[in-house]
Amino acid sequence: MKQYNFDEIVDRHGTNSVKVAQLNDRFGRNDLIPLWVADMDFRTPDFILDAIRKRCDHDIFGYTFASEEYYNSIINWVDYKHKWKIEKEWISYIPGIVKGIGFVIDCFTQPGDKVIIQPPVYHPFRLVPEAMQREVINNPLKLVDGIYEMDFEQLESVIDKKCKILILCSPHNPGGIVWSKETLARLADICIKHNILIIADEIHSELVYPQFKHYPFPTVSENALSCSITFMAPSKTFNIAGIVTSFAIIPNQKIRMKFYSYLNARELGDGTIFAYEATKAAYTYGAEWLQQMRTYVMENVDYVTGFIETNIPSIKVYKPQASFLMWLNCTGLKLKQEDLVKFFIEKAGLALNDGAIFGSGGEGYMRLNIGCPQSVLKQALIALKRAVDTK
Ligand SMILES: Cc1ncc(COP(=O)(O)O)c(C=O)c1O
Repeated sequence: MKQYNFDEIVDRHGTNSVKVAQLNDRFGRNDLIPLWVADMDFRTPDFILDAIRKRCDHDIFGYTFASEEYYNSIINWVDYKHKWKIEKEWISYIPGIVKGIGFVIDCFTQPGDKVIIQPPVYHPFRLVPEAMQREVINNPLKLVDGIYEMDFEQLESVIDKKCKILILCSPHNPGGIVWSKETLARLADICIKHNILIIADEIHSELVYPQFKHYPFPTVSENALSCSITFMAPSKTFNIAGIVTSFAIIPNQKIRMKFYSYLNARELGDGTIFAYEATKAAYTYGAEWLQQMRTYVMENVDYVTGFIETNIPSIKVYKPQASFLMWLNCTGLKLKQEDLVKFFIEKAGLALNDGAIFGSGGEGYMRLNIGCPQSVLKQALIALKRAVDTK
């Protein structure tokens, strides 16, 4: 069996990588260790590169449609990963999940309508509706004995007739929370009662650690199936975000007809050649690579957790159950948010995401991207310890 090397440092300079080339724009310096935007520093797997190179051997890149093999690769993968049997008609390509969220909002709501989110959460959930003149309603997660939970009482209290959509992050970024079947089913019951459409963003679902189980939202109950649009993608899993390949799955016929007519009218559901090739290759040949990569990331989680517990006790790690993002509670450093952000940049030389961008509950936190060689994390943690020790 092929052993992949995740320790390898791949130089990303000269590729217009947001993570590396926009350090100066975002943080005011170029010399920081980039541990922010959520892609990984691992080489794109060989089977995806091979598929793209093979397609490049043909010298015409004309209009291209989604083949049976493309749909079958998704159908088989979703069954393999989540034991969910889906049908071809339920699937549509979308050009990215954030764009997909914008399309759903455009298709199902009017300016002035309300969209519910559960912060701290991936910030485009707030930015996209706001930019589209929808009102964002927060139903912040609550921390119960140090564990994030959805606040259902609060949710019922903030819902009114103008609430049309709830955006669910499953698994939840930041925090890497894998939601239980019961939690998801309860969310569906509330949303059905109030006629609220749920967008289930499941982009991190393939990266759930083996001791946890991801439930695709429509599988948890009849209600969930009847009130939702699910988004998935190989982009986080196989580190191909720049190829722009995601897809929607909609079992409910009424919602599907409305949304797919919207997409078709604008040709938004038509993928690019490389999106189709990369998706087919990832989902046909990706199981072994993914297992090895996930094991490596879990070792990184243990490494970061152990290092911080031993050496930087003023920072507390929220233990993730999925993906390659870690949520660091830095309230023990007793810095105002603005100073906390400056501290990471100026004293530690690190580029992490400012927790406050994720909304209510994010103040005092920073998000660390651990999808990189462990040697990079070691260097970063030593720098962080030194900064904290000399604060
Ligand atoms: C929860 C979540 N959804 C969506 C995205 C981005 O997806 P896309 O690049 O397909 O828009 C990210 C990237 O970090 C994410 O964490």
